[in-house]
Amino acid sequence: MNNLLEMRKIYHYYGKARALEEINLTIEDRALDAVIGPNGAGKSTLLRVISGLEEPDRGKIEFLGERIDGLKAHKIAKKGIAHCPERRRLFYDMSVMENLEMGAYTLKNRKKFHELLDIVFEVFPRLKERKKQRAGTLSGGEQQMLAIGRAFMANPKLLLLDEPSLGLAPKIKDKIFEAVNKIKKAGTTTLLVEQDAILAMEVGENIHLLEEGKIEMRGTKEQLEKEPRIKKVYLGI
Ligand SMILES: Nc1ncnc2c1ncn2[C@@H]1O[C@H](COP(=O)(O)OP(=O)(O)O)[C@@H](O)[C@H]1O
Ligand SMILES: [Mg+2]
Repeated sequence: MNNLLEMRKIYHYYGKARALEEINLTIEDRALDAVIGPNGAGKSTLLRVISGLEEPDRGKIEFLGERIDGLKAHKIAKKGIAHCPERRRLFYDMSVMENLEMGAYTLKNRKKFHELLDIVFEVFPRLKERKKQRAGTLSGGEQQMLAIGRAFMANPKLLLLDEPSLGLAPKIKDKIFEAVNKIKKAGTTTLLVEQDAILAMEVGENIHLLEEGKIEMRGTKEQLEKEPRIKKVYLGI
């Protein structure tokens, strides 16, 4: 198996507060990995460190065999990592279509642009119906669809999704996760972080449990479901 991303002994501090401690994480090409864990565990920090929004204090990160830790975020984006941040951050005054175009700003190839757009509209028909609508007037679920679609328009080799289900109604959450699955099946390697462990374990092929900045457990859904602590704390069984 080819490894797309390798994190080795990554540490990150905010001032003196440690947010990540000795993180080892390997993402294989075409995998869908999910990091679960409570609020404040360090999930967003983990993604921010990968995409260069934060520089790790120690350790190394390799993407396609090349060191990327220490590179600026725009350089990392160019290498093929797209980060869909928590709470979306769209261009609210722009239309759906303009947001998708912004996502593709590094893409030179017009043909590829239309291929990707077709996939986005197939996965999220709602966005197609609303392509002229201003992003700020979309519902929360639609905004989340747009945020994922915009990240996908960069044609990433690795898609980072930060809490795509946050604040959404259960039905919409299911839709979003169905879409994440489709994007993965279209060949995009995805790393998802999510507080909703039940949903994340439904789609993730490999699940990593992050608690207080450390990966405390990992495995497949079937493996983790057997763990008494996972059952009690994360699945509410
Ligand atoms: N910009 C920041 N400055 C200082 N502390 C931060 C900052 N961002 C996050 N933290 C702290 O780092 C820890 C991990 O946060 P975060 O990565 O956002 O966790 P999660 O996404 O799992 O909720 C928390 O204790 C949080 O308060
Ligand atoms: Mg977070």
